[in-house]
Amino acid sequence: MKRLEGKIALVTGGSRGIGKGIALQLAQEGALVIVHYGNRRVAAEEVVRTIEAHGGQALAIGANLETVAGVTDLVQTMKEELLRLTGQNQIDILVNNAGIGTSKTLEETTEEEFDAIFAVNVKAPFFLVQQTSQFLRDGGRVINISSGVTRIAYPHIMAYNLTKGAINTFTLHLAKLLGSRGITVNAVLPGIVDTDVNAEWLHTPEGQQHAAEMSALGRIGEASDIADIVAFLSSSDGRWITGQMVDATGGSHL
Ligand SMILES: NC(=O)c1ccc[n+]([C@@H]2O[C@H](COP(=O)([O-])OP(=O)(O)OC[C@H]3O[C@@H](n4cnc5c(N)ncnc54)[C@H](OP(=O)(O)O)[C@@H]3O)[C@@H](O)[C@H]2O)c1
Repeated sequence: MKRLEGKIALVTGGSRGIGKGIALQLAQEGALVIVHYGNRRVAAEEVVRTIEAHGGQALAIGANLETVAGVTDLVQTMKEELLRLTGQNQIDILVNNAGIGTSKTLEETTEEEFDAIFAVNVKAPFFLVQQTSQFLRDGGRVINISSGVTRIAYPHIMAYNLTKGAINTFTLHLAKLLGSRGITVNAVLPGIVDTDVNAEWLHTPEGQQHAAEMSALGRIGEASDIADIVAFLSSSDGRWITGQMVDATGGSHL
């Protein structure tokens, strides 16, 4: 039997990058996966098709996570779709992955940009947990995708760093709050991963070398490196880990 057989997972930002990798891995391990997307419906549907082609189950739901109204839309649609597909509306695994980055320094960041990055990276996970916790089965999982920037200083992207610090704090306190229901809550902290966010600078010879040298393992992270850790934490193998910030940087800046 597969590790996640019978489980239902919601992965935000599953249309590409790390979220896509997580959606594919959880489905491969047997979960029915709700592949949330922001703007890229076609990409999310392609992820669903890939999962189905491998014998898995998935559905795509779009919602803009900049506002709480968008979070509510996602939860409503998800409940309706799950009722239709499975006859119940509970989920087992929530992966808060959707996020945006910034290239702005402390000096350059405007109030609007600060609010926008906090909206997607912090406010959305907060309200998504608020609105799904009663539909999250006892014994379930919350996994927040944070970042290695909470351990390694990158002062040139200050606002982004603060959002991930907030996610780590959320993880700690949520683990205590939901622990009595057997729900584990952990954060996974990737280092540099080869996704669209980094494409511009990473896909140059200097960028490749710089990024690979950061890791003790001498290479750049792939979405699947992160997805495997999320799958482990999602499974019963990860049942005794909660409230933890799991470094997934391939030993960057040791
Ligand atoms: N890549 C890295 O090096 C790295 C390192 C550490 C941490 N992380 C974290 O890992 C997570 C995923 O990063 P990634 O590199 O995979 O990012 P990515 O390739 O840019 O993908 C971002 C995902 O988030 C969704 N999203 C963005 N804004 C949204 C909004 N307003 N409403 C709804 N969905 C929205 C996107 O949906 P659409 O495309 O459908 O719009 C997309 O699926 C983020 O939390 C990021 O901070 C990444």
